[in-house]
Amino acid sequence: MQSPRRISVIFGTRPEAVKLCPLIHALERHSDLSPHVCVTGQHRELLDQVLEAFDVVPDVNLNLMQPGQTLSSLSARAISGCDQYLADAKPDLVVVQGDTSTVFCAALASFYRRIPVAHVEAGLRTWNNDSPFPEEINRVLTTRLAAYHFAPTEQAKANLLRDGVAEESVFVTGNTVIDALHLAVERVRQQPPEIPDLPKRFLSRTSDRRMVLVTAHRRENFGAGFESLCRGIALLAHRFPDVDFVYPVHLNPNVREPVNRILSGKPNVHLIKPLGYLPFVAVLEACYLVLTDSGGVQEEAPSLGKPVLVMRDTTERPEAVAMGTVRLVGTDTQTIVRHVSELLQDHHAYGLMSRAANPYGDGRAVPRIIDKLAEFPNIKAELLRLKIAA
Ligand code: UD1
Ligand code: UDP
Repeated sequence: MQSPRRISVIFGTRPEAVKLCPLIHALERHSDLSPHVCVTGQHRELLDQVLEAFDVVPDVNLNLMQPGQTLSSLSARAISGCDQYLADAKPDLVVVQGDTSTVFCAALASFYRRIPVAHVEAGLRTWNNDSPFPEEINRVLTTRLAAYHFAPTEQAKANLLRDGVAEESVFVTGNTVIDALHLAVERVRQQPPEIPDLPKRFLSRTSDRRMVLVTAHRRENFGAGFESLCRGIALLAHRFPDVDFVYPVHLNPNVREPVNRILSGKPNVHLIKPLGYLPFVAVLEACYLVLTDSGGVQEEAPSLGKPVLVMRDTTERPEAVAMGTVRLVGTDTQTIVRHVSELLQDHHAYGLMSRAANPYGDGRAVPRIIDKLAEFPNIKAELLRLKIAA
């Protein structure tokens, strides 16, 4: 009898963990595949919160995070850390997800060791190297390095084909974030989480106050962009004293400094610590609308029927924009104030955006990915075949 093939799942940040933990559990249950989990530790507290929520214990933690890390120093440490890990673990295949520095570095290190890479959430594109920065380049380079591409949508598949990827190596699966969200919603509805930083009424369906959920952390918004978006939130909080603005602040010091300086001390602005995944989903379900620059939140919120205003100029997730549940508003103070005010004051405009929409998946992306991974009878031979075909 053949021993199960070893699939190394390598990740490092909060969003990758959310989108890969359900896959890790499914690999654990599969008789022919065996997961080996390596976290780079690009994030520390934010990653630990997700691992704890999904009860995943990594086999290896490279523990790379340093306060205020630069892209190059993190990348250099991630490539050599992943290289050593791969030399020791000797996997048959590596799975990475998304577009962070961990993803690109793990894919490059695997490529150098001639280990095939499967890329989950492949094919997202803005076609603008500066936005989001550096994620657009991370995912383009990961595409070049990967042998298998799990595209969340048909649009993502079309992007991969436009980039010259062989069609037989692309599989449209839906996004695993919806699998994660379904699990979380079920658990939150069974047992509503305690959130020490927020009074209980914030999660109550009968509360007469509305809540705007805010998250922001994009590098291209650092500096002027953050100053501007924070001023927008400050003006909104003043204009709408009957609305609560709940902002779990990312731990990046480039985010914390302007947010604390401009927004602290306002009675209806609640700057809180990053939320664990289950508490975050509970707040997402309870909020009225979402103001964010996050990728994952753009995918989750439409599923729950929450309008999303995206504080960016581009998005690699155009599907929900086309469906009308997500709108790009950039970081300009007055533009943010105008769009949020409209949704808070105009019920018709709110109604048009608050329809539940699921362009990113049906919650079954994980089994589709697992089926494909199990289908590859001899992964290395399959890789060779695809390379020749391409
Ligand atoms: C990273 C990803 C970004 C992703 C985001 C998700 C890159 C280049 N950026 O951005 O694509 O959208 O994660 O959140 O891969 N920090 C902590 N504790 C933590 C996490 C971060 O203190 O648990 C602080 C540290 O000072 C760290 C800094 O935040 O140096 C920046 O972390 P880093 O992973 O480099 O960038 P993010 O902005 O988190
Ligand atoms: N999230 C969380 N706690 C928070 C904020 C976000 O658990 O306080 C989750 C969110 O549900 C989503 C993921 O983190 O699944 C998105 O991560 P982030 O916005 O940091 O990264 P991005 O998706 O922009 O890369």
